[in-house]
Amino acid sequence: MISRREFLLAGCAAGMSPKLAFGQGSTGPQTQTLKPGAISMDHPDLAQPWQNMLGFNGSVPGPEIRLRQGEELRVRLQNGMEDGAAVHWHGVRVPNHMDGVPVLTQNPVPPGAHFDYKFRPPDAGTYWYHSHYVSHEQVGRGLFGALIVEETQPPDVDRDITVFLADFRTGATGAFDPDFVVPSDFSTEGRIGERVLAFCSQRHVNVGERVRLRFINAAIDRVFDFKLSGGIGAVVAIDGMPLPSPEALAPMVLAPAQRVDVILDVTEGIRLDVLMAGVWKTVGRLSASGESRREARAEIAALQPNDLPMPGRILKHVDILLRGGEGDLDHGGFGSWSINGVSGLPRAPVAGFRRESTGVLTLSNPTAFPHAIHLHGHHFREVLADQAYGPLRDTLLVGPHETRPIVCVFDNPGRWLLHCHMLSHSADGMVTWIEVS
Ligand code: C2O
Ligand code: CU
Repeated sequence: MISRREFLLAGCAAGMSPKLAFGQGSTGPQTQTLKPGAISMDHPDLAQPWQNMLGFNGSVPGPEIRLRQGEELRVRLQNGMEDGAAVHWHGVRVPNHMDGVPVLTQNPVPPGAHFDYKFRPPDAGTYWYHSHYVSHEQVGRGLFGALIVEETQPPDVDRDITVFLADFRTGATGAFDPDFVVPSDFSTEGRIGERVLAFCSQRHVNVGERVRLRFINAAIDRVFDFKLSGGIGAVVAIDGMPLPSPEALAPMVLAPAQRVDVILDVTEGIRLDVLMAGVWKTVGRLSASGESRREARAEIAALQPNDLPMPGRILKHVDILLRGGEGDLDHGGFGSWSINGVSGLPRAPVAGFRRESTGVLTLSNPTAFPHAIHLHGHHFREVLADQAYGPLRDTLLVGPHETRPIVCVFDNPGRWLLHCHMLSHSADGMVTWIEVS
C-alpha cells in the first residue's frame, strides 16, 4: 500500500486512467464507450480534489486508448454532460466524417445522445483525443485522453509511459477556477494557468531500463519549455511521426497539442522541469529503484516509419494571414482573431486542393503573440530556409512576427479545419477550413 505522502512525493499522477485495449481475442475489436461528464478531479499533487472539472469516464485524462496499427478503433461517445459533445482524434489521418468537428463534419451530440466513431488509424504513433465542442472550456476542464497506435514492430523498451502536461488557473484557494469567459484571455496569449500538472500513466521506473516517454501538451494555450533528466536518450518522434534518425535530447518546446516521443536509458529518477516565468520548476517525477546493470545497450534506433507520400511538384501556394488580438492595432481588432480577414468559420473554404496534390500554405503571423497552427486530417512539413523540408508535424508554432511556409500532400478528401490550437484564440475566431476534393 502506498501512502498518500509517497504519492505526493512522487509528484506525478498515475493509475488514474484505466486503459481501453482494442483487438483482444479472436472476436475482433469491441466498441468502447467514452462518456464525458462532470467530475471532481484528484491528483497526487493536489491538497484537495478539484471541483468543476470534466472527465471522460470519470477521470482526467480519460482512458488511454491503445491499438495496434491496422486495427480498427470503435468508440461510442455517450454524452453524459448537460452540454454538447464531440470528440476529435488529434493528428490521426481519419476519414473526414470521423473528424469530430461540429458544423464542419458532424452535429454536436446533444446531452444524453451518442455518436459512434469507427475508423482504422493508418499511422502508428502518439496521438490524443479531445473535445472539439466549446473546446477551450471543455478541454480546459479536462476532456482529453491519449490515443496510442502501436507499431507493428515496436521498439524494444521496458516501459511505455504517457505524460500529459497541462496548466490550470487557480484562485487564491488553490482550487480550480472554472471561469472561462474572462475577456482578456481571448485577446492576448490565452488563458494561462499558474498551476502546471503532469499526468503520467506510470510513475516508477528501474535504473538500467530503457523507457519510452510520450509527452503530450494538453494545455489550452500554454507553450511549454521543458527538459527531462534522469537518463540518456533521444527524441524519436514528433507529433506522432517518427524522425528519420533520433535526435539528441535537449530542452524542448511543446506548443499546445504537440507531442514528442523520447526513448530514455534510465540512470536515476526521472525529473520533468518546465520553465515558468524564467525559472525551471519541477512538475513531474518518476521515482527509480535498483542499480545500473551497466549492460551494453543497442543504440536508440529510428522507429518504423509511417507510410506518407513525399511532397511532389507544388501546384498551389496559399497565403494564410493570422491577425487580431491586442497588439494588432492596425487591424483595429481587440480580441477578435481572424484568418485571411475572416473571424470564425467562413462559409467557403479558405483554399481548395485537388486530391493528391501538393500545396504550400504560407503562415504569416504579424501579431504580437505566438500561434500553434493545426491542420486536421493531414501531416505537413515546414519548408525551411534552404528549401529543405522539416519533419512531419500536425501542429506548428509560429512565433510573433514570423512567417513559416508549410508543404502538404493533400491526400485525404473532405473539409478540414485549419486553426490555432491556442484554444482561446480559435474560440475567438482564429479558425478556418480547407477543402480537398
Ligand atoms: Cu486538437 Cu482542431 O484540434
Ligand atoms: Cu493563436
